[in-house]
Amino acid sequence: MGQYFTNEKLPSNVKKKECIIYGYKFTFLTDNGVFSKDGVDFGSKLLLESIPLEEVGDKVLDIGCGYGVLGIVLNKLTGASIDMVDVNLRALHLTERNIKENGCNNINAFESDCYSNITNKYNTIITNPPIRAGKEIVYNILFNAKKHLESSGNLFLVIRKEQGAKSLIFDLKKEYNVEILKKKKGFFVLKCNF
Ligand SMILES: C[S@@+](CC[C@H](N)C(=O)[O-])C[C@H]1O[C@@H](n2cnc3c(N)ncnc32)[C@H](O)[C@@H]1O
Repeated sequence: MGQYFTNEKLPSNVKKKECIIYGYKFTFLTDNGVFSKDGVDFGSKLLLESIPLEEVGDKVLDIGCGYGVLGIVLNKLTGASIDMVDVNLRALHLTERNIKENGCNNINAFESDCYSNITNKYNTIITNPPIRAGKEIVYNILFNAKKHLESSGNLFLVIRKEQGAKSLIFDLKKEYNVEILKKKKGFFVLKCNF
């Protein structure tokens, strides 16, 4: 069974899922071989509903975008321009379809292994990090965010207690100011800046 971050060819079975976020209805096409194919992940929804939208700013990077939930919702709710990246090509293809499905503008979705194809700086970097891809990739995404944030920018993320939230917070505090925005059902939503 392939992991959600590999490009193994699983038979396609596209499904349409609906989700209410901040009281608005969003529609997402999902498929086999992508993260949370049965509908929007609890942690991703909690992340979106816990961050202060007025602090998101004009330029956002959704890193590890999957089928596009975080960036699409922020684009619709704030009007920010969004770059969305992933290594999973099926997920990126779904993101492109979901951008159209939800009538978004000013979103670019492209392949990038962590920050390998990122040259811009952002007001917000948002991620539900790919824990199963391993610590090296998760730490690359979280600690190199600093290089791609404007000086007043924020990194927003969600992590589960059982995935090592406490030790991650300990490590993040060596590089960032860390605020716990929300704790619910074992999920932590964090805001990091410097
Ligand atoms: C936990 S999922 C979150 C997906 C989506 N943001 C959401 O909230 O539903 C993490 C995503 O990171 C992607 N990913 C894994 N390794 C990556 C890497 N090296 N660079 C960029 N994205 C990666 C996976 O393919 C997956 O789509």
